[in-house]
Amino acid sequence: MLVKQAEFISSNTDLKKCPEPELPEYAFIGRSNVGKSSLINSLTGRKSLAKVSGKPGKTQLINHFMINKSWYLVDLPGYGYAGVSKSKRLEFALFIKNYLLKRENLMCLFVLIDSRHKAQKIDLDFMQWLGQKGIPFVICFTKLDKLSKKERAENISLYQQEMLSQWEELPQIFLSSSTKKIGQEELLQFIEQTNRLF
Ligand code: GTP
Ligand code: MG
Repeated sequence: MLVKQAEFISSNTDLKKCPEPELPEYAFIGRSNVGKSSLINSLTGRKSLAKVSGKPGKTQLINHFMINKSWYLVDLPGYGYAGVSKSKRLEFALFIKNYLLKRENLMCLFVLIDSRHKAQKIDLDFMQWLGQKGIPFVICFTKLDKLSKKERAENISLYQQEMLSQWEELPQIFLSSSTKKIGQEELLQFIEQTNRLF
């Protein structure tokens, strides 16, 4: 799929103020700094559609972008960032959970995982929760450019093994780098196919 058009629609924490759920939607989630906003920019071929920062905690709202006038990409705040106060972290969690549980046009959630790191409890617990709630998700490993081919294969295989201790079946897995432009086509193809189910 070619992204011909990408426009910012809205930012808020209130599900009721999100765009009407009339188009299929895909949201990006994961730890702060994992590269959610960067991946949205690289998928849409736009440098600063979503705001990126080297400092974790940049994205703080539910951000809707309309693509090709036919589907939505959603940039969400990261979780697990120690720099915000505990009460604020809790508040994040609440509005994000509310969005994830109630957004009826959410076709699939992309859980982004930094390919350099071993499986982290916070991500594994979050995916368990998604499973319990029946929220469809796939995994997308990010920042592949930071690893050699050998390291990529090793890390991803280790991650899959770790997941298999909790899951009977693994979710679909995508590999990406926003700086080196890896994986964009596969992600867009997946979205194109999934859009047909809406
Ligand atoms: P929050 O909004 O704070 O939760 O972060 P985020 O997950 O949206 O991360 P963001 O896209 O802002 O990127 C965080 C940092 O990682 C920035 O310095 C990016 O330039 C860098 N980064 C993102 N993607 C990649 C990638 O594929 N490769 C490399 N090398 N760096 C990346
Ligand atoms: Mg962000």
